[in-house]
Amino acid sequence: MRFAKKDVLDMESLSVEEIQAILDTAETLKEISTRPIKKVPTLRGKTVIHFFYEPSTRTRTSFEIAAKRLSADTVSISASTSSIAKGETLVDTAKNLEAMNPDAIVVRHRAAGAPHMLARIVEASVINAGDGMHAHPTQALLDMMTVREKKGSLAGLTVAIIGDITHSRVARSNIVGFNKMGATVILAGPPTMIPMGIETLGAAVSYHVEEAIKDADVIIVLRIQKERQHAFIFPSEREYAQCYGLTKEKLAGAKDDVLIMHPGPINRGVEIAPEVAEGPYSVILEQVTNGVAIRMALLYILLGGPR
Ligand code: CP
Repeated sequence: MRFAKKDVLDMESLSVEEIQAILDTAETLKEISTRPIKKVPTLRGKTVIHFFYEPSTRTRTSFEIAAKRLSADTVSISASTSSIAKGETLVDTAKNLEAMNPDAIVVRHRAAGAPHMLARIVEASVINAGDGMHAHPTQALLDMMTVREKKGSLAGLTVAIIGDITHSRVARSNIVGFNKMGATVILAGPPTMIPMGIETLGAAVSYHVEEAIKDADVIIVLRIQKERQHAFIFPSEREYAQCYGLTKEKLAGAKDDVLIMHPGPINRGVEIAPEVAEGPYSVILEQVTNGVAIRMALLYILLGGPR
């Protein structure tokens, strides 16, 4: 399949065929990370800038590793150590980065739409590594890869997404992505954490975790994003854990072959009990492993082949 896009910005703009091509490519490239010498020359001579305005462990590290495994040269910029700290705007920063002729810019920003704006003003490929509460397409792709690996296909599955939906770019990208691939999505969480009208993205809503997970093939538990909550939207972490946290007791009503996922970082004992996060149904660390493969696939597709 010919991938005609310059950028990967959200799940809405990827077609089913493009998602399938990314997942297939990631599946092939995953093997490179298991070799004694984990490097191929595919992107030799290409330059990738990782431009993170918000903290990150998994996304930033896996993009960096992905680029290096494909032999691209990488440069990392963070808000605190660049001239952004002196007040330089995103547009000026982008124009200056573009003047150094990179091939791709991977960007995480607190403002929704920042990667889209960047993509319009630079010639380099832009990959959205998470923009505000809007989108996190590479997370959705690695989640879909993990589920497809375990279940064989995505069509016909039921995916329950539990927790702080309002503040979650992961939820939005997963709702759109899983829907496109033929899965059914159900959301559950406190009413204060489920935005009105979210059903229009293609998800059913429940306010009871037990109800949402009973027929689920996959449960994606979301982190409570305290850094984005500006109002008092749940009484206490203890109460949240009791009512909405995924515990062994709640999981007893789920399917025998359910997969438990979490994008990380985890608030242990709040949205998920430690014994569930580390239990037999959990594929949380496999998600992280697949994160490298998905990011290798995106860099390879955008920079390695004829577009
Ligand atoms: N899932 C995710 O985006 O994790 P990081 O914030 O550590 O990158």
